Amino acid sequence: MSVRPILSIGHPVLRQPAAAVAGDEVGSVPVQSLIDDLIETMRHANGAGLAANQIGEPVRIVVMEVGDNPRYPYKPILPLTVAINPVITPLDDETVEINEGCLSVPLRGNVRRHVNIQVDYLDRDGFAHHEIKRGLTAGTWQHEVDHLDGVLITDRADPASLATWAEFEAHHRDAFIERITAFVDRVGS
Ligand code: NI
Repeated sequence: MSVRPILSIGHPVLRQPAAAVAGDEVGSVPVQSLIDDLIETMRHANGAGLAANQIGEPVRIVVMEVGDNPRYPYKPILPLTVAINPVITPLDDETVEINEGCLSVPLRGNVRRHVNIQVDYLDRDGFAHHEIKRGLTAGTWQHEVDHLDGVLITDRADPASLATWAEFEAHHRDAFIERITAFVDRVGS
């Protein structure tokens, strides 16, 4: 396992749609060691998620985990999840504007996300999952799957909301946390 460099916006691999992992490759040493590297790199950077193309591997694998995260203190707990070939299907038209950051982008911005989604994916043991995700957890899934399609938060964010982390902390953090805490209390995740 190793901490890998995280690519920044402007690197072409971040814009390249990632390729599906063949079912019989899931258990292979290269795929399993890539998953280990993604987990270690995400944790080292205090990220809530990381997509394989962010470390230069254009394949459809994402990892997500939220514990007590200093980057995102308002996010509900999300146990370590490895998703291979994830597919998201919105369940209805409800959306919420979430202020998001990204390990590949030095800005935060408000992105509108579906609140209720279905996710279909394989875990690292090759088992198929079909689950419902809601709220900020659903937002995290949408952010990570966007990466696999070559989409970054700067593409989706309200342009006027873009801010550096320091300016977000100074001017927008309190209002966002108040709004999103009320949302999490209502939605439960
Ligand atoms: Ni990201």
